[in-house]
Amino acid sequence: LTVPQIRTRKTDGSSGKPLVMLTAYTARQAQLLDAHCDLLLVGDSLGQVIYGLPSTIPVTLEMMSNHAAAVVRGSYHSVVIVDMPFGSYEAGKEQAFESAARLLKESGAAGVKLEGGAAMAETVAFLVARGIPVMGHVGLTPQAVNVLGGYMARGRDDKEAEKITSDAKALDDAGAFAIVVEGVVEPIAIEVTRAVSCPTIGIGASAQCDGQVLVTEDMLGMFERVPRFVKKYDDIAERIGDTVARYATEVRERSFPTSDQTYKAKS
Ligand code: KIV
Ligand code: NA
Repeated sequence: LTVPQIRTRKTDGSSGKPLVMLTAYTARQAQLLDAHCDLLLVGDSLGQVIYGLPSTIPVTLEMMSNHAAAVVRGSYHSVVIVDMPFGSYEAGKEQAFESAARLLKESGAAGVKLEGGAAMAETVAFLVARGIPVMGHVGLTPQAVNVLGGYMARGRDDKEAEKITSDAKALDDAGAFAIVVEGVVEPIAIEVTRAVSCPTIGIGASAQCDGQVLVTEDMLGMFERVPRFVKKYDDIAERIGDTVARYATEVRERSFPTSDQTYKAKS
């Protein structure tokens, strides 16, 4: 799949097939997800998910570049998009180009994602004009947690709702090939999706977007506490705990390893 093909995947409500996106941070994870997805996102959520950081704010370009390279090595079909981390693009369009070019050159990813709306439109146009596909991200933008004051749903009042729609339009006009819409009430997801020519990819943004994305570890049930918009398709944390407990018991009672797992001397 290619970025221009993704760009055309507007669903017009119920007719078209929604885009499927999941996060991936490692090569093996990418291999397992690749065939089932249209897009793999190397999200800066890896700050919390992989590194145990309190937010995405401390995530660095080097971290993103290394994980993106691993994901590209594990994927063959999906379009791999890498998040631009906080502080790597906001100062200006030149800074953004340098950071984005570094990410794509070092990792082989197909494009970048950055947070913010109208304030980022000029930067988006600058990158797109220079060969870097950009995915936008509006609504709940986690890199702005210190300004927003938390991770609550956005657009509950009219002023904020209008701002989210005009932000999305500005990104669309600037040439973004898709826009993540995070943590907004359903009417805003509908309005934004109608207002832009590129596909919207929702997370906590109802079924009305042109695609959906989740953090893979969240939907696999790797964490006890997840946002309300996550559906846990599995309880992998419990299964890992049970499996490791069995291993620990067998080691302690010397029932692992058995002769099956033991090298024998030549007879
Ligand atoms: O970092 C991330 O995982 C994201 C998605 C959840 C949209 O930005
Ligand atoms: Na992100």
